[in-house]
Amino acid sequence: MGKVLRQFWHPVALSRSVEPGKAREIRVLGEDLALYRGHSGRAYVMANRCAHRLTKLHTGWVEGDELRCMYHGWKYDGSGQCTERPAERAGTEGHIRVSAYPVHEYCGLIFVYMGEGIPPEFDLFRKPKFEEPGVLLNSRQEIWPCNWLQNAENSLDAVHVSFAHQMGRVGVFGEYVTADVPEVSYEETSAGIRQAAVRQLEGKVQTRISDWTFPYCNHVSVPSVKEGQPWIETVNWMVPIDDTRTLRISLRATPSTTPEADRDLGRYFEECESYQSTDYHDDLFAGIYPEDPLVRLTSAQDYVVLVGQGAIADRANEILGASDRGIAMLRQILFREMEAVHNGTPPKDWRRLENPSTFMSYTNS
Ligand code: FES
Ligand SMILES: [Fe+2]
Repeated sequence: MGKVLRQFWHPVALSRSVEPGKAREIRVLGEDLALYRGHSGRAYVMANRCAHRLTKLHTGWVEGDELRCMYHGWKYDGSGQCTERPAERAGTEGHIRVSAYPVHEYCGLIFVYMGEGIPPEFDLFRKPKFEEPGVLLNSRQEIWPCNWLQNAENSLDAVHVSFAHQMGRVGVFGEYVTADVPEVSYEETSAGIRQAAVRQLEGKVQTRISDWTFPYCNHVSVPSVKEGQPWIETVNWMVPIDDTRTLRISLRATPSTTPEADRDLGRYFEECESYQSTDYHDDLFAGIYPEDPLVRLTSAQDYVVLVGQGAIADRANEILGASDRGIAMLRQILFREMEAVHNGTPPKDWRRLENPSTFMSYTNS
């Protein structure tokens, strides 16, 4: 599975989490990495262990676009090449390097490619609606103490919306995506899986489509916090930190409306930025949910059900039903892709959908 995952770009941090001249530690796919931003503004990611005596590189100094180890001053450029060893003869560092990974920034997120060879073009995760001029972008992240696949499977489970998102306080998401149990259907696309959930609502048929991109990126449309405001395009990535922790990175895009409304929404997102469900773990498991109508509430509801499955859900003991066919489809695709990697045959060439349709429509029944 690690080999399958390494064929993709992974969002690993918010761009704003590392300023020029600063370094920090991140962990992705079970690897500890140093993330730093050079004084040029460019971000770099390399193994967080100095080749000399193995201390953590992120604790050192950023110099220009290079990183100097705190322990004895060995210095590395962004490709991981050692460029200086102050206490050794000059010019003898040529054979010393640490692994470094290609970095790409997109919409305020830092992506890393940790696979072999030349990285794929950065295209699969691009979303046209996020690139429109004037669109309001907001990003946030949470780290949850459970396996990434629980998080990914939850995106392909439209039924949970009718229960999990009705718990505690029913927010705008729970109101608009009603408590009626949907008929679900799933279809594999060039990019991932298209999910359709059809619900009956007061004489209308409500159809909700989401565009899910392999291996773990969900793209949905959700109502805004205030009545009458345009819906928010939301993308959630479920990045494996390691087997028992997931970095959930969210990116939201809303069309700009009036300066006041834009400001209000910006302020709302700012308030939500620091919310971490883990800080409220005991409250949440005791049934105390945040007052917030959208971002914090929906996160909290998903947190309870996903962390509630255990750090790594014991799937041997599950009983799946027909409504779980999105999950079954995902697992079949994962096995297919793992087998391809295992047999050395080409994996699927995943391609972005030109027009990902994420919408909610109402028609007369
Ligand atoms: S451990 Fe990094 S320079 Fe010695
Ligand atoms: Fe959910």
